[in-house]
Amino acid sequence: MKKELIYCLNSLVVEKVKKTNKGFKIFIDGFVGAMNSTIVLMDELVFLGFEKVIVNDINPCLVQVHFDIRNRPNELISEYLEIITTKYFKNYGGIFLEKEQYEQIHYELNEEFMKLQKNNEFGIRTSIIFLLLQGTTYSGIPRYDKSKKAKSTDFKFSKKIYDIDRYHSVLLNQIPKIRKFSKIYNKIDIEFRNQDFFNLVEEFRTNKEVLFNLDVPYFEELKEEDTSNKMSLETTSKDLKDCAIDYNQKFDHIRILKELDNLNFIYNNNAHPILNYYANEFNINVGTFIRNEVTSSKLGETTKKVRELILFKNSLLNKSVATNQSGYRPIELVA
Ligand SMILES: C[S@@+](CC[C@H](N)C(=O)[O-])C[C@H]1O[C@@H](n2cnc3c(N)ncnc32)[C@H](O)[C@@H]1O
Repeated sequence: MKKELIYCLNSLVVEKVKKTNKGFKIFIDGFVGAMNSTIVLMDELVFLGFEKVIVNDINPCLVQVHFDIRNRPNELISEYLEIITTKYFKNYGGIFLEKEQYEQIHYELNEEFMKLQKNNEFGIRTSIIFLLLQGTTYSGIPRYDKSKKAKSTDFKFSKKIYDIDRYHSVLLNQIPKIRKFSKIYNKIDIEFRNQDFFNLVEEFRTNKEVLFNLDVPYFEELKEEDTSNKMSLETTSKDLKDCAIDYNQKFDHIRILKELDNLNFIYNNNAHPILNYYANEFNINVGTFIRNEVTSSKLGETTKKVRELILFKNSLLNKSVATNQSGYRPIELVA
């Protein structure tokens, strides 16, 4: 994905500079998740003269983690050492423990984490527990808490340890990892937002200085040959199934595709004929690549390969008067 993203970024900037003599000022990562897109593009963003990055996600815990890595790495490290001292050393005398002892520590940290999330108490404590538990979970993808009282964005971690050797390396690498990523995040000015993307876009829709990265929740890959005649203007978000990675959000895929005509953007998703349809409709560039879907939860399980499409265009470049309307009424989504 790295080289494809860099290619799209460079070609959009070059096209804009050629036509207007100016590059972009702001890069908005609208669905930041683990922040991989911004991290792989960081050097190019600095080199290409972006003044600021806005990272946004609907999930408050994720935004807090990135904020703390950038702005409070020393506090994260102190809190991490506090956990190591109280949970590992005081209770069990060290960090090289039996599987059951690790599982007990996981259980306690997860209980505390879920309680903090429910009370909306996001901060250094939730961030460091998130980093520790996310690292020691085999696939690295946390699950969502689907119990009645939980919010749709609340995470939940398994107490299970899949690989003890990997567990040790995660524990030992945590401090250098925080320092390394803090350095990367500090290469540019970053503003952190915790908004529904569809609210955020209202603020920036017609801004020609902004380039959006839209790594939206994925829908299920659907091959060209599976296309029914329905893949057209009549297709609704209800017709698109979520893929195996579940972000626990009802996401209006068609709404964002209709937004593409109002934004300068890079958008990617699993391959689906609906993307080719919109690319044709709005004359959008399309690239393709293969991604390993990281959903396996057992050690040694092979990951599925999915074909992704990447759509990119400076939609605002040739618009003389940009409208502030997406011309779209949200549809009602089914769960
Ligand atoms: C495919 S992931 C993003 C992956 C990310 N680019 C990365 O590098 O890890 C999708 C993200 O979108 C977020 N999300 C889902 N619905 C959203 C919405 N309406 N507004 C903003 N973020 C949303 C999810 O919380 C999730 O983190």
